[in-house]
Amino acid sequence: MKLVIVGTGYVGLVSGLCFAEFGFQTVCVDKDIDRIDSLKKVLCPFYEPGLENLLSKHLNKTKFLSLATSLSEAMLGADIVFITVGTPTKRLEDEADLTAVYKVADELASNIKNYCLVVTKSTVPVGTTREIKKIILKKINKEKFDIVSNPEFLREGSAINDFMRPDRVVFGCDSTKAEKMMRKLYRPLYLLDTPIVSTTIESSEIIKYASNSFLATKIAFINQVADLCDAVGGNVQDVAKAMGLDQRIGSKFLHAGPGFGGSCFPKDVKAFVSTGRKYNVDLSIVDSVNHSNQRRPQEIVSKILKHFKNDVKDKVFSILGLSFKPNTDDVRDSISIFIAESLHKKGAVIKAYDPKAMENAKLVLPSIKYSDSIQHSCIDADAIVIGTEWNEFRALNFKLLKEQMKNHIIFDLRNIYHKDELNNLEFVYYGVGK
Ligand SMILES: NC(=O)c1ccc[n+]([C@@H]2O[C@H](COP(=O)([O-])OP(=O)(O)OC[C@H]3O[C@@H](n4cnc5c(N)ncnc54)[C@H](O)[C@@H]3O)[C@@H](O)[C@H]2O)c1
Repeated sequence: MKLVIVGTGYVGLVSGLCFAEFGFQTVCVDKDIDRIDSLKKVLCPFYEPGLENLLSKHLNKTKFLSLATSLSEAMLGADIVFITVGTPTKRLEDEADLTAVYKVADELASNIKNYCLVVTKSTVPVGTTREIKKIILKKINKEKFDIVSNPEFLREGSAINDFMRPDRVVFGCDSTKAEKMMRKLYRPLYLLDTPIVSTTIESSEIIKYASNSFLATKIAFINQVADLCDAVGGNVQDVAKAMGLDQRIGSKFLHAGPGFGGSCFPKDVKAFVSTGRKYNVDLSIVDSVNHSNQRRPQEIVSKILKHFKNDVKDKVFSILGLSFKPNTDDVRDSISIFIAESLHKKGAVIKAYDPKAMENAKLVLPSIKYSDSIQHSCIDADAIVIGTEWNEFRALNFKLLKEQMKNHIIFDLRNIYHKDELNNLEFVYYGVGK
């Protein structure tokens, strides 16, 4: 089967390369000419472990991957085309902005010559895949294509592994032919015993939002428990550990911190609530998760300000970690960026360091200082704020850092360290919920 992937972002590029790894002839298309030019030079537009190796392998050696800017050329002989463009939140609203998805659907309609599957891999609200069908039907007849919803669950930072070894593959369609083709596509994973959930288009679309909203709920929940621990002298890590040992609960996504960020959870939670509103269905649990998470970054800033009696003018902060999570350079909706910006607005001097995300951070936050190492960012600092749990922040040399710092305060927003250990080194230590 020949595959076409429209959009070479995190999902499109990773999917395209992993399908090439399965042995499918795959064309990745993007309207961004610079992006395609860089990819042709084996330069990835973002950092994702292992991605450049796969790109080099399938572009230059196996030649299973090709790159294009023109959809009409790419679509020649295509059996399956995936829509993997962005679905951000609409400006000033909670709804998903589907402009890019519908634009691709319209462009596809003009370029489908022989039968093919049109698969929505972008995260889209229930009803969108059928809307895509309507758009395509305006230009070609129904025998020429089938539609499928096939949400993607990969995580940035471990995207290739997640794609190659997913917990499950989900797709929704209403034609036997489409189902057969989708099963053939994912056969390499089926052979690894990956569960394949074949369902209706509506269920498939809902599964993605329900899954992300549920994970977001776990995070928001443990963050509120952390606040209670802070108020009464409990330790949220002990609470979470004991909770997680109950197999009905599970230990994952029970790490208290500064709230969830990134390009998916915040927007998906909002879009899910907005879908509930559209169909007059009460999704108030998810709504409350959204609100509590939106308040959280400011609450963390307030906690930092409180230590300094609300005056951080000319105080120097070393912010360690700018990406929304480790192993990515993605700073979309990153809480670290929010904290750095808020303290900077209050007059603080910010010296930030991140192993991979500084170039992206400079685009959204040009006015702070950037350091080329942990040590450099801590020189003359009053406080360290650990915003992202990169591995290299897990064994900081506090004795050395202490010599370089002016004051010895640490805000460990990822609960990496122990209070006693840091207190023994004469640091004032703030964790989250302990
Ligand atoms: N990033 C993740 O971790 C992740 C995980 C699962 C699902 N998703 C979902 O997948 C979708 C894509 O997310 P992403 O992070 O990969 O997006 P992204 O913003 O990184 O990339 C989107 C790409 O699509 C391209 N594009 C836009 N319109 C186009 C058009 N008309 N023709 C060709 N290319 C076009 C853009 O140039 C860009 O390169 C979203 O719906 C997202 O919610 C993302």
